[in-house]
Amino acid sequence: MVSSAVRINDLPAEVLEHILLISDPFDVARASQVCRLFRGLVYADDEHFWRALYLAQPFDDPREAVTYLGNHRTGIKWREELQRIIRARTVVHNVTVCRPEERCQVLRTLLDMVTNIPPLPFPESEPTSHNVLWMQTLLQDGAFLDLESQSHEERQLRARLHTWFGLTDRDGLAAKRIDSRAYVYSQRNYRSLNSFGPYALDGSGLVNWEHMQKLAHVFARNLVEREEEEEEEGEEEVAFEVCSLSLAFCQAVIPPGLDLDRESDWAGVEGLWRISYCFMDHRELLIYNDLNSPEDVPLDHAIFEDAKETFSSINLFIRVINVEQDPDHPTRPKINYVGEMDGNFSIVGYVKLTPDNQIRWHFVAGNGDQGRAVWCGEAISMGNVRSRYGVLGAWSTTLHDPQDPIGAHDCGERLLQRLIYDLLIVCLGNICRSPMGEAVLRNEALKRGITDIHVDSAGTASAHVGDDPDERTITVCSTNDVPISHSARQVRARDFSSFDYILAADASNLRSLERHPGRSEESKAAVKLWGSYLPDNKPIQDPYYGGLGGFTKCYEQCVKLSNAFLDEVVGKKD
Ligand code: 4NP
Repeated sequence: MVSSAVRINDLPAEVLEHILLISDPFDVARASQVCRLFRGLVYADDEHFWRALYLAQPFDDPREAVTYLGNHRTGIKWREELQRIIRARTVVHNVTVCRPEERCQVLRTLLDMVTNIPPLPFPESEPTSHNVLWMQTLLQDGAFLDLESQSHEERQLRARLHTWFGLTDRDGLAAKRIDSRAYVYSQRNYRSLNSFGPYALDGSGLVNWEHMQKLAHVFARNLVEREEEEEEEGEEEVAFEVCSLSLAFCQAVIPPGLDLDRESDWAGVEGLWRISYCFMDHRELLIYNDLNSPEDVPLDHAIFEDAKETFSSINLFIRVINVEQDPDHPTRPKINYVGEMDGNFSIVGYVKLTPDNQIRWHFVAGNGDQGRAVWCGEAISMGNVRSRYGVLGAWSTTLHDPQDPIGAHDCGERLLQRLIYDLLIVCLGNICRSPMGEAVLRNEALKRGITDIHVDSAGTASAHVGDDPDERTITVCSTNDVPISHSARQVRARDFSSFDYILAADASNLRSLERHPGRSEESKAAVKLWGSYLPDNKPIQDPYYGGLGGFTKCYEQCVKLSNAFLDEVVGKKD
């Protein structure tokens, strides 16, 4: 019997194509070099085969990805992109094959891979990016990130990729940490030419990724150390297992229905943030930045061998005040914001794109009682827009005196919505009932040790906008030792998406809220009568036209309703 061997030429084209599609693209290229049949399939005129081959790889579908600024991708070049990726992979595995003119291209390709990834719908969603997993495996040992770069451009690209990637094994070495601290804490790296931030020292406003990478290193090491300490002390479980300044936290967070091109707060500025910062002992900082040392003599790093840094965090609620058109970026306007904590520490700043389209955060901060700005910061959003990686940068003083302190900060680890109770109390004028409700609820929460709550108040009418609370409200609050400070404002459309609960003082205000043009089916906020948290479902009567007695009654009701709300939403008192 004669066996009939099947020759490749006899196979139908679909089978041949299938064979290629389950092969590694590197082998596909090889096969098409030695076999005319394969070459015909692979290099056909259309992109059909390359799209299928791309989509067969363990990568994100580029059609579902968004860019750093949250835009969807168009004009995907399947063949060109896949070939570049496979070449980059080859070079990472064996850098000796890299041609000198290819060095930057490979880094750009890897950066494209990690900056074009699908968004997550919610901050709590599990990370889903295949590109991230692929890159974590590819760069696992960190060796490629630690290679010597041969040009300024290559150094910048490599530092940028490293900043996105996060800590490598070598970042654990004491010598590397000294090197990064020496950079971050050198006054020489903060000048008016780089706006005292991580920007190029040529005044161009471009991000200096080497500076960013040193900041990320200093900051991440502090963060990891703090987590390890907390674990040892057996305190509450750490919120994340890997450092949040890393690839796994780089996906944009874009809730369904949110169109960043139409949203004024496209960068997700408004909300409760955890701001962490580190700094070194001021005396040691002055010794290190020896003012008598000539500029061309390197500073002595010895002090960092056992220098201690302080690491601290505060929670700060940031609110958008307005946006200004940016002619270079019609859909990404400049966002002006304010933030305050306990009424005695406040920040003012803006978010705006740099000339290289990075999201820049600028702020000045100060203690309210001193009435002047003391600190200022310059930072860049890391990961894609609204990612959980956060915003990383440097802070210094507004006077920029060479004797002044400097340090690293991270406005990252945006507190997750589920940890926050964010509520707005609403009455008519926002001068009697709701500012009292706001103050009382905050006070009752504090008595229970609840700090992750944000309370605000507003009125459905505009007549008293900008006014202080009514004197009778202030009197009753101070009689009961409840701090109160508020400037009346009207309910705005944004409130329905930024607050979790909007609680109306009475039925008429509830109706106004329900009919408000800013409210829609998809609005996040639960809009309710505040009184609905008690079985009697009573409104808070308007005390404006009566005497002090009405305000005392209002106060008593606010205490009861605050506790009813806290019982139901945050949990019963012990
Ligand atoms: P509120 O009280 O709604 O509790 O702030 C009022 C304040 C002012 C007016 C009415 C109610 N007003 O008519 O001016």
